[in-house]
Parts: sequence; C-alpha cells; structure tokens
Amino acid sequence: MHFLKLSPLLLLSLALLLQGVLGADPLYHFCSTTSGNYTSNGTYETNLKKLMASLFYKVPSTGFGVDSVGQYPDRVYGLGLCRGDVSSADCKSCIVDASSEILKLCPNDKEAIIWYDYCELKYSNDDFFGKIDTKYKFYMWNTATVNDSASFNNNTKELLTQVATQAYHSSKLYATGEKVIDDSRKLYGLAQCTRDLSSEYCKECLDDAISDLPSCCDGKEGGRVVGGSCNFRYELYSFVNS
Ligand SMILES: *[C@@H]1O[C@H](CO)[C@@H](O)[C@H](O)[C@H]1NC(C)=O
Ligand SMILES: *[C@@H]1O[C@H](CO)[C@@H](O)[C@H](O)[C@H]1NC(C)=O
Ligand SMILES: *[C@@H]1O[C@H](CO)[C@@H](O)[C@H](O)[C@H]1NC(C)=O
Ligand SMILES: *[C@@H]1O[C@H](CO)[C@@H](O)[C@H](O)[C@H]1NC(C)=O
Repeated sequence: MHFLKLSPLLLLSLALLLQGVLGADPLYHFCSTTSGNYTSNGTYETNLKKLMASLFYKVPSTGFGVDSVGQYPDRVYGLGLCRGDVSSADCKSCIVDASSEILKLCPNDKEAIIWYDYCELKYSNDDFFGKIDTKYKFYMWNTATVNDSASFNNNTKELLTQVATQAYHSSKLYATGEKVIDDSRKLYGLAQCTRDLSSEYCKECLDDAISDLPSCCDGKEGGRVVGGSCNFRYELYSFVNS
C-alpha cells in the first residue's frame, strides 16, 4: 500500500482547489417520496440519462430548457433553469453538477429536484410543465438580524413586490432591483420564475413566495424563498454578477 504524506497546509490548498474544480455545494434537494422508484438499468433510467444529456445541451444558451424523453410509463420530464445573470459556461457546469448530484442523492427516485446558487434541475415521471410547483419549497436566511425589523420588513416586501412585478412582465421572467433604506443601507433583490410558466402563473407563484416573508425572514438581513417554479432573494449586499 502507498500512503501519500500531506501537510495540513497542502491538504487545505488541495481541498480549496478541489472545491474550485468540483463546483459549489447544492443549496437543497428533495427526493420524491410518492412518485415511486425506477429499476436499475431499466428504460426509465436510460430515458433519464438521455434527458440529462439533452438539458446540458439546451439550458446553457438561454439559461432555461425543458425536455421529455421516452414513452409512458417510462417517459421522463425535465427542466433546467439558471439564475438570470449567470454566464452560459457557469450555467452549463451548474447543470452538469446538478444532474450528477441528483442521481447520487436520490438513487432510483422517479422524481427529484435540486437547487444551487446558479441553477435548478428537476425531473419527474409526471408532466409538470406550465404548472406551479406547490410540492417543493425551502427557505434560507441570513442569520444576522436588523434592529428595526418592522420598517425593514416593509422595505423588503416593497422591494420584492416591485422586483417580482418586473420579473413577471419580462420575457426571461427574471429581474433584480435595489432600494435605498437609509444613509448606510441598501437592499438588493432578485425574483425569477421557470419559463414554462405563463406571466400570470409567475405572478401567482411570486406573490405566494412573498407572502412567506413573515415565516422565513422576519427581521433577517437577507433571505430566500425557493420553490420549483419561482424564487426570490434579498440581501443588504449585491449578490448577482453585474
Ligand atoms: C423506493 O426505494 C426506497 C429505498 O430505496 C424505499 O424506502 C421506498 O419505500 C421505495 N418506494 C416505493 C414506492 O417503492
Ligand atoms: C446495472 O448495470 C451495471 C453495468 O452494466 C452492472 O454493474 C449492475 O450490476 C447492473 N445492476 C442491476 C441491478 O442490474
Ligand atoms: C441599529 O443598528 C444600526 C446599524 O445597523 C446602528 O447604527 C444603530 O445605532 C442601531 N440602533 C439601535 C437603537 O440599536
Ligand atoms: C409597515 O407596513 C404596515 C402595513 O403596510 C403598516 O401598518 C406599518 O405601519 C408599517 N411599519 C413601519 C414601521 O413602517
């Protein structure tokens, strides 16, 4: 047996290097508990792998793509979405990471969804295109809190409502915005829907997400409500590539 002797510093650099090469960690994922399992090496798995390959190809150029592969009962539907500001190259590597992670995290699951900062990937045996996903949603928040939560919450809601309105009126169903709160603070917001949704459904999805602000983000300096069909984020710092 051969053992490599590595200094802690070298190990640290190696870890950082690998992190750079292997990309970011997922924010969150769900494996369906109700859609059933597919058998290893069966038709569904073959179709799922073809679907992933199609999404690598389709999603990066515009930041969004859907496809379906195969025939019932082995037909697989899939969707990929990159954050509106992300480059094609970063979008592609995010979708590639997402597809390999989701297969590892949800082995044999007929439906699953995974989110990263830069992208989202979902697949299912059910035709979910054009419908608002009400199954999968999570919250994230900045642990720092403000000392003026009542007015801060109001400012947050105002900004996000305005950004959401811009998003559902835009062809990319994506928008960002800013709001000065006082001399020392500025809020930054983002809202985005998957582009299989109509503008009306995008509005409905974002309105619903924004109504979760009190439960996710009361008095928090930053937060996100992230669902399968839409998401928003706000922070006291800029978090998108300009
Ligand atoms: C799918 O597989 C998991 C574990 O691999 C098992 O816990 C679950 O009951 C299975 N679901 C169905 C619907 O067979
Ligand atoms: C699936 O195929 C792989 C490679 O062909 C093989 O190693 C594995 O044992 C197969 N699994 C099942 C459950 O048949
Ligand atoms: C609230 O926090 C701000 C910094 O964010 C600070 O300048 C201000 O003094 C604080 N006010 C109170 C009442 O603690
Ligand atoms: C926040 O908004 C609510 C409802 O619009 C209003 O009643 C309240 O006075 C506002 N609070 C502050 C501190 O701005």
